[in-house]
Amino acid sequence: VYIKELRGTNLLEERLKNYLGVEVHVVPSGLNQNLGREELGRFAADFLKGLITSGDIIAVTGGTTLSEVAEMMTPASEGCQVTTVPARGGLGEGVEIQANTIAAKIANKLGGDYNLLHTPDNLKQETISTLIKEPSIKKVLDLAKRADILIHGIGTAEVMARRRGMPLDKIEELKTQGAVGETFGYYFTQSGEIVYSTTSVGLKLSDLTKIRQVVAIAGGRSKAKAIVAAVSEKYQDILIIDEEAAKGILELI
Ligand code: BG6
Repeated sequence: VYIKELRGTNLLEERLKNYLGVEVHVVPSGLNQNLGREELGRFAADFLKGLITSGDIIAVTGGTTLSEVAEMMTPASEGCQVTTVPARGGLGEGVEIQANTIAAKIANKLGGDYNLLHTPDNLKQETISTLIKEPSIKKVLDLAKRADILIHGIGTAEVMARRRGMPLDKIEELKTQGAVGETFGYYFTQSGEIVYSTTSVGLKLSDLTKIRQVVAIAGGRSKAKAIVAAVSEKYQDILIIDEEAAKGILELI
């Protein structure tokens, strides 16, 4: 608390909370970018451990940020029997940053069971309609819908569109429509309007309102616009960011 007050972080968090409408935690970035990423992951992991109670269902997205959270999570001294589940299908990226891997890692550290979702995002709607009737997939999706806690990353629209393999003309169209932020397949303009969403078997934005605690985690100044675009009291309860992202947001408000 002393360090936070000394650095004025509490005031900053209060200001951001008033603007974004959600509880905000700002993690000091430090001088080294890599160490800063680790610190964000460590803080978020500890914070989540305090939020979770035994028996909770935890839905997770993929991404490098969430992967760091899973990495930094320390094993629970007494197993707390959580159930983890990926929030959406995969992006086809490296296995280390897939939601499946993150779900497994967190369950193994906390002591619980994980579920895997073996479907990619971005399928044709008719394929999705067939897939969600498959018992093994339906079971995982039903669990995700009953999640008590969702932890998700936020990305800039262009970076995520590229990572999701979107064709160049579609990326240009998104930019023209003003998309600046992305979170689990939804693309937002600076004022929070959704201009596009990728098809997925997983959670929809409308499902988020039923989840007890929705926690967004993001770091880096380059994500400031994306964070403002994607975060709202309508969907998230808590936002964990680093100091760099916080400074970037202050320049926008
Ligand atoms: C994806 C999530 O896996 O990771 C998105 O589905 C998020 O919600 C993205 O925008 C963020 O990735 P990173 O690597 O910047 O943490």
